[in-house]
Amino acid sequence: MSERLIIVGAGQAAAQAVQSLRAEGFDGPITLIGDEAWPPYQRPPLSKAYLLGSFARERLFLKSDQFYRESDCTLILGARVAAIHRAEKTVELADGRKLAFDKLLLTTGTRVRRLRCPGADLAGVHYLRDIADVDGLQAVFRPGARIAIVGGGYIGLEVAAVAAKRGLDVTVFEAMDRLMARAVSGPVSDFFAAEHEKSGVKLKLRTGVEAIEGDGRVEGIKAGGQAYPADIVLVGIGVLPKDELATRAGLASQDGIVVDGNGRTGDPAIFAAGDCTRHIGREGTAIRLECVQNAIDQARHCALAIAGKPASYSEVPWFWSDQYDLKLQIAGLARAGDQIVLRGDPAARKFSVFHLRGGIVAAVEAVNAAPDYLAGRKWIADGARIAAEKLADPSIPIKQMA
Ligand code: APR
Repeated sequence: MSERLIIVGAGQAAAQAVQSLRAEGFDGPITLIGDEAWPPYQRPPLSKAYLLGSFARERLFLKSDQFYRESDCTLILGARVAAIHRAEKTVELADGRKLAFDKLLLTTGTRVRRLRCPGADLAGVHYLRDIADVDGLQAVFRPGARIAIVGGGYIGLEVAAVAAKRGLDVTVFEAMDRLMARAVSGPVSDFFAAEHEKSGVKLKLRTGVEAIEGDGRVEGIKAGGQAYPADIVLVGIGVLPKDELATRAGLASQDGIVVDGNGRTGDPAIFAAGDCTRHIGREGTAIRLECVQNAIDQARHCALAIAGKPASYSEVPWFWSDQYDLKLQIAGLARAGDQIVLRGDPAARKFSVFHLRGGIVAAVEAVNAAPDYLAGRKWIADGARIAAEKLADPSIPIKQMA
């Protein structure tokens, strides 16, 4: 008998799951419930080309209406799931409707971490996670406007690059002593800091924000004991997993819904995929990943398990960021203590940083150096051992190294 599947959360993982379930022969009805007004769309362009205005909204959508029709997938949009009733196998919507499932897939993603300081709720304080956020930011993105960006991570810096390009006066406030410290090594942080400064972005490192000031709306920001005037504040200080539906239903979460290698939670009927999950990574430790790769691969593995063809998940994570004309591509997870090998010259705006662990390639960060990234990603998957001296020698072509 066909099983009924409900997917909660209409993001990248959800779209992938629908596609993979049908490809793997799952033949039951699928219902996809999302609280935004939109069917699944790509988030990465939001803080990049879409904010810049060079990427039409229609291009954000991952699948056409026809795809959902042909996949026998019913979309329920603008609707929030309020509870999961595991014993009776239903989900309850905020409007009271109950829908029955045989299998449930949670792809609820993350929400932004909010700034908690005086003035944090003033008009003019923006976050960037969904289409509506960018539309709100677009409306105030005027040349000459002073934007204070809180957080020098992916979101803060991508917005800084777009804002600088569009003629805004940009200042970034970062609590740590370097940019993107969570995600990249020192040389890459330093390189991006110099690039932002070249574009006129003012960087305030080691500078936590104490208050947003203004009478009803933003007029300035107080950080590191100093006052800075500002017309707009954009906050990008990280994201938190949306796991409360799972935890209220008694499923385990440790900063991410705990899933096994098949994407299964502690309840055999309930799966989860994407940014909202925590799984045992390739290196044997529990991790929560925030990336498209993980959303896609975990969704595929959930689909395989739901279709009765379980295969264990063990993919190399990869990430990217676009700032100005710079493409940063990262594969693998670096760790403190890795041997760092620089290949190429940052001054040429094209270089990479390899991370070796016990001589084996564990991670690569590449700036405008796609071949290094692709080779690195493959070496990580293969557990390849490449000598540091060879890697550091740009006269040896990357393809001749393995
Ligand atoms: N004041 C200043 N900086 C802060 C503060 C604070 N109060 N709190 C945190 N930060 C800094 C962190 O040190 C970090 O450098 O904010 C930065 C947040 O960077 P990320 O962790 O990369 O988070 P964010 O940029 O919000 O991106 C969130 O969105 O682009 C996607 O999936 C991607 O994981 C990424 C997510």
